[in-house]
Amino acid sequence: MPKPIFVLSGPNLNLLGQREPEIYGRDTLADIHARCATRAQAFGLTVDCRQSNHEGVLIDWVQEARESACALVINPAGYGHTSVALLDALKTLAIPVLECHLSNPAAREAFRKTTYVSLAATGVVSGFGGTSYELAVEAAAGLAGATRS
Ligand code: DQA
Repeated sequence: MPKPIFVLSGPNLNLLGQREPEIYGRDTLADIHARCATRAQAFGLTVDCRQSNHEGVLIDWVQEARESACALVINPAGYGHTSVALLDALKTLAIPVLECHLSNPAAREAFRKTTYVSLAATGVVSGFGGTSYELAVEAAAGLAGATRS
């Protein structure tokens, strides 16, 4: 059985659907996770989707991915712009790391233009709403060596 793709989401993403829908859309995180599972399934893979509002919990999950995941997709949310500790954890990974964002942070406020997580990312997908997650899962599956079945 291949290892899953970890799909991690940071703070406030549990409120998707209600939170600033004009920026983040009306899909819930559960909707997006279901679509990620379908994308991964096309490659014969599974996803392990988790969300936390806590930086240390996200770091624990990144460390768990060292042994337990074939690739990591992460929407670090606000921690992407602030967390050196999350960057340090991601830098310990030997697997592909895909950063994703629902919005396009580069087109928003100045403080969103720096994303520490990008320094450890194999690639970044931004600006496509929930589809950013799906595209990141698809890229992660390919980088992990899976082919569409
Ligand atoms: C976000 C963009 C971040 O700047 C913001 O702090 C978020 C969500 C996105 O998915 O567009 O919480 O990561």
